Amino acid sequence: MRVLITGAAGFLGSHLCDRYLAEGHEVIGMDNFITGHPDNIAHLVERPDFRFVEQDVTKFIQVDGPVGGVLHFASPASPIDYLEKPIQTLKVGSLCTHNALGLAKAKGARFLLASTSEVYGDPKVHPQPESYWGHVNPVGPRGVYDEAKRFAEAMTMAYHRYHGVETRIVRIFNTYGPRMRPADGRVVSNFIVQALRGDPISIYGEGSQTRSFTYVDDLVEGIYRLFQSDRAEPTNVGNPGEFTIRELAAAVLDLTGSTSQLTHLPLPEDDPKVRQPDIAVARVVLGWQPRVPLLEGLQKTIPYFQQLVEREGAVARTL
Ligand SMILES: NC(=O)c1ccc[n+]([C@@H]2O[C@H](COP(=O)([O-])OP(=O)(O)OC[C@H]3O[C@@H](n4cnc5c(N)ncnc54)[C@H](O)[C@@H]3O)[C@@H](O)[C@H]2O)c1
Repeated sequence: MRVLITGAAGFLGSHLCDRYLAEGHEVIGMDNFITGHPDNIAHLVERPDFRFVEQDVTKFIQVDGPVGGVLHFASPASPIDYLEKPIQTLKVGSLCTHNALGLAKAKGARFLLASTSEVYGDPKVHPQPESYWGHVNPVGPRGVYDEAKRFAEAMTMAYHRYHGVETRIVRIFNTYGPRMRPADGRVVSNFIVQALRGDPISIYGEGSQTRSFTYVDDLVEGIYRLFQSDRAEPTNVGNPGEFTIRELAAAVLDLTGSTSQLTHLPLPEDDPKVRQPDIAVARVVLGWQPRVPLLEGLQKTIPYFQQLVEREGAVARTL
């Protein structure tokens, strides 16, 4: 099958390209590098079964020839990125999703939307099942991302119901692994880079807020299975193991052998206090569950940041 992956030069998009190519598919990667990097796909560009198109997906998408799948991953994804690029983030969730769905409809392709646990906002139900409608502040600073993704889900369901497009929606929970940008401000990359450099580990608030962390290989497996399935409703894919931010900091310090101290910064506005996926649906419908525990995933991730710190003097960024 020939698949189009938008956001192909990003963290998740590049791993998806690897997986689809490894499964014998032909991949067209599309990206405008707004938060991605050519290095993430440098190992693919010479392959005959991979083609890269540099394009802003908010503009009309034209692809010649057959396309059997559209995996829509283009979007700024870290709070630092979407707070700095609020309009692009809203446009990517709305216009890009519309364009990508239009291409899927025209080609008779199956469409998969990369949605997010942020559609649950600061949740009042814990853990979060797919049936929970969420608790989002539409006019807060984070609303640009959360509402863009909620709109994208609504648009995807409308194309499914009205145009009969085969659609899938994955609600992705906090995922980490090699190819994250060291300065994208996400908690795992920040802590690892800060620990490796001996810089203070920046904790927002007391660090008692919880998050669930999914290793990228587990996520890609869940997405691959969801795409193959016949489930059109949104599906959580994430690791239900729940850790406080302080616990994550302790694990990173331990694994890196760092002597960095903890430093506390103000809690960002509308920051969720808890976050944990209910993955009962993924277990039953996809036969999927995460396999990589946090410590093992961190061990696989640290060497990637180590070489960036040593080679480029990579630094973390905080809000
Ligand atoms: N990483 C996570 O933990 C996580 C969690 C939930 C949802 N997601 C979703 O997964 C997707 C990928 O996230 P990521 O972590 O790989 O982020 P990323 O920033 O590494 O990748 C996003 C990619 O999209 C590209 N892009 C953005 N706007 C574009 C546009 N208008 N045209 C073309 N390309 C554009 C960027 O250049 C980048 O390469 C996003 O849709 C994100 O919302 C990620």
